[in-house]
Amino acid sequence: MAVGIFDSGLGGLTVLDAVQAQLPDVPFVYFGDHAHAPYGVRTPDDIYNLTTEAVERLWDAGCDLVILACNTASAAALRRMQESWIPENKRVLGVFVPLIEALTERQWGDNSPPREVNVKHVALFATPATVRSRAFQRELAFRAIGVDVEAQACGGVVDAIEDGDMILAEALVRSHVDALKRKMPQPDAAILGCTHYPLMQDIFQAALGADVKVFSQADLVAASLEDYLTRRPEMIGAGTQSGFLTTGDPDRVSDMATQFLRRKITFSAA
Ligand code: DGL
Repeated sequence: MAVGIFDSGLGGLTVLDAVQAQLPDVPFVYFGDHAHAPYGVRTPDDIYNLTTEAVERLWDAGCDLVILACNTASAAALRRMQESWIPENKRVLGVFVPLIEALTERQWGDNSPPREVNVKHVALFATPATVRSRAFQRELAFRAIGVDVEAQACGGVVDAIEDGDMILAEALVRSHVDALKRKMPQPDAAILGCTHYPLMQDIFQAALGADVKVFSQADLVAASLEDYLTRRPEMIGAGTQSGFLTTGDPDRVSDMATQFLRRKITFSAA
C-alpha cells in the first residue's frame, strides 16, 4: 500500500512531513518534477500535461491515491483531470479544500449553503498561475459569503527556494507582503497558498504582524487525508515501498530535501 504525493519541486515535502507524522504506517511515494519547476509561470495546458504525466508515474509506483501537494496543479489542472482523465479505480485529491474548510470553520464534506464566517479580510499569497486561476475564490464562494480576498502573486519565491537562495526568498516574501498590505492594510487572516511557502512561514508571520492568523496547508491536509483513508481504506494502493522520485538531479535534490526536512532524504531518478 502506498499513497503518492506530488509537487513541482520541494514544496510538497512540507505536506509529506505532516502526513508521515499523522500516518506513520502508510508508505508514501513522493514525486518532485524538478526538471520543470516552477509551474507557477506556466500555462494551464502545460501544467495539466506535466501533472498528468507525474501522476501516471505515481500510479506505476503502486499508488491508487495521489495528493497534488501543489496548489498550482490543484488550481490549474485538477478539475480538468477529475472531469475526464482519472480512471474509476484511482483518485487524485488537491490541497485547496482542507484549507478553505478550516478558514470557513467547516467540517469535512459539509456542503451546506455558503454562510457568514469570522474572517472578513483574507490575504492570499500564491504563485502567478494559482492567482490567475481564481480557484481559491471559487472554492471559497461555495462556502462563505462576505469575505474580501486580496491575492498577491508571489513571483520569484519558488525559484529562490528551489535554488536554495533563502536570502533572496526572504527579501521577496517581505516585498510581496508589503505589496499586499498596500492593497489590504489589515487582513484578518493570510493563506499560504503554495506548499513551498511554509518553508518561509516565520518570515510571512513577521512581515504580516502577530495579529494576522496565518493558515498553511501541511497539517490541514494531513488531518483530512487521515479522515479520507478511514472512510476509503481501499484507496491505499498496491505499492509497499516508500520512496522519493525526481525528474531533476537526484544528488542535488537529495541535498536540498535533507536540508529542509533536517533528516536524510534520498531521491532517485523518476
Ligand atoms: N509548491 C507549488 C504550489 O503549491 C509551487 C508551484 C510552482 O512550481 O511554481 O503551488
